[in-house]
Amino acid sequence: MAKKIKLRLGFPGHFKEVAVSLPAGDPLPWDFDADLKVVGKRIPRVDGPDKVSGMARYTFDLRLPGMLHAAVLRCPHPHARLKRIDTSKAKAHPEVRAVLVMEEKEYRFAGFEVAAVAATTLAAARQALALIDVQYETLPFVTDPDLARRPGAPRVRPEGNVEVSLESRRGSVEAAFRESHAVVELTFRTPVALHTCLEGHGSLARWEGDLLTVWDSTQAVFDVRDSLARALKHPPEKVRIIKDHAGGGFGSKLQMWSHTPIAARLAKLAGAPVRLLLSRHEDFLCTGNRHSSVQTLKLGASQDGTFTAISWKAYGTGGIEGGAETSRAVDGLYRFPSLEVREEDVYTHAGPACAMRAPGHVQGVVALEGAIDALSDKLGLDPLEVRLKNDLSEIRKAELKLGAEKIGWSRRRPSGSHSGTRKRGLGVAGTTWDGSGLPGPEVEVSIGAEGEVTATCGTQDIGTGTRTILAQVVAEEMGITAAEVTVRLGDSYFPYSILSGGSLTAASVTPAARAAAAQALAGLLKLAAKELGERVQDLECREHQVRVRSGDRSLPWGHLAQNAPSGTLVFKAERQGNYTGFESAAAGCQFAEVEVDTDTGEVRVVKVVAVHDSGRILNPLLWESQVNGGVIQGISFALLEQRIIDHRYGVVLNADMETYKVLGALEVPEIEIIPFPVAAGFNNTQAVGIGEPAIIPTAAAVANAVANALGLRIADLPITPDKVLDALESRAKGRR
Ligand code: MOS
Repeated sequence: MAKKIKLRLGFPGHFKEVAVSLPAGDPLPWDFDADLKVVGKRIPRVDGPDKVSGMARYTFDLRLPGMLHAAVLRCPHPHARLKRIDTSKAKAHPEVRAVLVMEEKEYRFAGFEVAAVAATTLAAARQALALIDVQYETLPFVTDPDLARRPGAPRVRPEGNVEVSLESRRGSVEAAFRESHAVVELTFRTPVALHTCLEGHGSLARWEGDLLTVWDSTQAVFDVRDSLARALKHPPEKVRIIKDHAGGGFGSKLQMWSHTPIAARLAKLAGAPVRLLLSRHEDFLCTGNRHSSVQTLKLGASQDGTFTAISWKAYGTGGIEGGAETSRAVDGLYRFPSLEVREEDVYTHAGPACAMRAPGHVQGVVALEGAIDALSDKLGLDPLEVRLKNDLSEIRKAELKLGAEKIGWSRRRPSGSHSGTRKRGLGVAGTTWDGSGLPGPEVEVSIGAEGEVTATCGTQDIGTGTRTILAQVVAEEMGITAAEVTVRLGDSYFPYSILSGGSLTAASVTPAARAAAAQALAGLLKLAAKELGERVQDLECREHQVRVRSGDRSLPWGHLAQNAPSGTLVFKAERQGNYTGFESAAAGCQFAEVEVDTDTGEVRVVKVVAVHDSGRILNPLLWESQVNGGVIQGISFALLEQRIIDHRYGVVLNADMETYKVLGALEVPEIEIIPFPVAAGFNNTQAVGIGEPAIIPTAAAVANAVANALGLRIADLPITPDKVLDALESRAKGRR
């Protein structure tokens, strides 16, 4: 039976009592300022020593006896059909054990899989690829989204290259623009960006009879299990996916990519385990990217800066995949009385887009926040004041004020009023993201014969610290230290969990862990009461013992476990639904200070202030690590990152870490992180995700700071020195 409780929600100075339904059997959430011993502490990652010493095994480190190495032949053309393939020479290679030709015979981007080989060494597998005799019929292609939109462009899909992905309307924007005091219209462009996970994609597959085990670098062991079972027409319970440690995912490992069934099929053919690790080049071509965008925003306001209407027309390309959407944040940040949105997917003969850290939001917020600054400049108003006037969230308004103080917003000068050749500028942007978690994950807490505590869940730690926070939550509940809890995760043979995406993991998995730990405690008390002949309410659990409150009788947990038939006590709980009755998105804002060198066009980010709330911060070290990562990746997107295709040939020119630029350590500015305390309380740990919120506003804040410094806007990301110099030159010649 669900129980009604009152929760104190909000933030200091703005608390309110909210009646919510407590899910049946769930522990009461900890109070906002409860004195917790383990949760909320700066505990280093429990797997940190393993990682820094090289003991931690990533998929790329794994080897099995008799393991073969695989390599994939990829179509070099952006669009082609297979004319002829002869694999006999490859098969005859003495070290080759299996050759596979893909079923799909039409290749829709340069990098598409044609055939694969497994051999005793990787060098032999690569040699064998060169022995495959293949002839392609090249077909018309289009990789430039602007060309792909034109009538008569080569078709990427039979239905056509353009598809409306999102359309909505509220009120009359035309009337509202007519009545506005000021209206701006700008077009923003953002490039295709790549996930650049430190560990790329790879799978190691082994068959034992009809049981298939795949060690996979993934964000979703259960989803990969289901996809692989479908691809191979094999029962899902006979497919086991294991992922121990992973070097990042950022959305590129939420789905199964073709290398995984290729490894499994080669392993079956060869009768030996097969490891297929994608090279960085392959990884950059084939395993997802952030879709590009061209966004035209029209924004109106009354004289005092109150928004009247917004029009958002956008298109973007995700290559052969759809899903281009940038306007998701439009209704979460500011109040727009009338609105019109129209977005289009443009299909091109390029590698597929997929989710990437706050998909669509990062691109969309660049445009939205850029338009707000342009409008504020036009009205002669402080862009911070304009935001405070229109922001939907009381929390974010408080965060904006706090952040402004920390960055020294009062130093901000009107755009373009800086003299000299090193111009400083300040910018700000907001974020909203719902990382309040989902029901479904299950956690098992067991007590062994020595009293040892183990928490087991299929969920994956993609580098965010899931192992550590699970240990903390169980330890907190059971009155022990995090180091005394062993966490086992990353295995589809463990209790179910959802994918690690959408910043959902902490908020989805820790409540199940807490509920299971609470059950374990209750179970221990019940068993001890029976054995001691006491009432449960006269007992307490402390330091791996159940004690009688008055007196000195006690029983060790291990003793109680020894009495169980299996010698182990096992308790399992499931994550229940979110408590309802209040707004669920986490707010945040970031401020950036930049210096632009007008002689070289170089932009240097001097400082970022990041203010974020995300419910209860389970571990400030890990939380800050997410914010640091988000800010760094966001600056990188603003200034450096872009996948470049030569549209004459339809091939990617910079599919490697040498020429695809990412921010380096020396370019990372001072990052001041301010956790904003909010009692959110959607679940029993009150955790809310932070991974994605932390990247959303960064590029927008940097772009706005550059516009403030220069008095002109580079609306085409990344903001590279050539674009800065071109814009300055155009202005000097009176062209803008
Ligand atoms: Mo995230 S893009 O859901 O890994």
